[in-house]
Amino acid sequence: MSLPEWAPEGVDVTVPNAARVYDYGLGGYHNFAVDREFAEQLISAWPGILQVAHTNRAYLGRVVRWLAAQGVRQFLDIGSGIPTRGNVHEVVQAIDPDARVVYVDVDDVAVSHGQAILAGNPHAAAIGGDLRHPAGILGHERVRALIDFDRPVAVLLVAVLHFLSDEDDPPRLVRELTAALVPGSYVAVSHFTAVDDLGHEHEQVTKLYDRTPTSVRTRDRRQVAGILGGLEVVEPGVVPITSWHPDPEEPAEHEQRSVLGAVGRKPEPA
Ligand SMILES: C[S@@+](CC[C@H](N)C(=O)[O-])C[C@H]1O[C@@H](n2cnc3c(N)ncnc32)[C@H](O)[C@@H]1O
Repeated sequence: MSLPEWAPEGVDVTVPNAARVYDYGLGGYHNFAVDREFAEQLISAWPGILQVAHTNRAYLGRVVRWLAAQGVRQFLDIGSGIPTRGNVHEVVQAIDPDARVVYVDVDDVAVSHGQAILAGNPHAAAIGGDLRHPAGILGHERVRALIDFDRPVAVLLVAVLHFLSDEDDPPRLVRELTAALVPGSYVAVSHFTAVDDLGHEHEQVTKLYDRTPTSVRTRDRRQVAGILGGLEVVEPGVVPITSWHPDPEEPAEHEQRSVLGAVGRKPEPA
């Protein structure tokens, strides 16, 4: 099978991949037949999943604009996905062209497409990295070159933590990341969560993802708050993403109860 021009060398087109499945769900074209077939199975199991992808993306945009309004100008977007509409650098550099953004993802398609669209952008970069190894991300030469760790940084962990197991210890990973940041820095998350009346649909989706290299798991409000332990969770707390600073000009059509969102701020030392 001949691969499209954008496909990085060695890409495995025989197993569905979370980044490419999400890209398909958002209407992108950086995906293969195996991803599209898998996405269609997800949609059959739970038609609402498409809406999840779109509301999550809208949440990401609101979070970034809110953080920019707090004065943050540096963003480390981990599990950034394949660039699509409303990328972080587009949102924040429209506010301040000097804002810095580094995208980090384990997926080669996400990284190579990120590098392609950022060519010529001196303030943004895309690198390969694994959230399970924060030291590798924090020490990466592109991160050190673009991010000034003496100034506040926003770490974005949007729709990525549910790909980590409890053994990966997400609270520890967030502690390791925030240890490198000055007070006044932020961590923003969104996370798949269980909803009683969608139990069957969620179970089907989880079972399907178990057939891929990246299983997904739900976490409840208390567990998501625990991931942000040590940070001050800003108002309105850990809430369904559609309730997190909703945009009155673009109101969500339905509440999205299957994904929780929250933003934590690193406090001054006591
Ligand atoms: C559902 S997409 C979310 C993309 C984007 N953050 C958003 O919310 O629109 C999840 C992304 O997380 C990436 N990912 C999964 N596990 C990861 C890990 N351990 N480290 C870095 N990225 C990871 C996947 O490759 C995928 O691109």
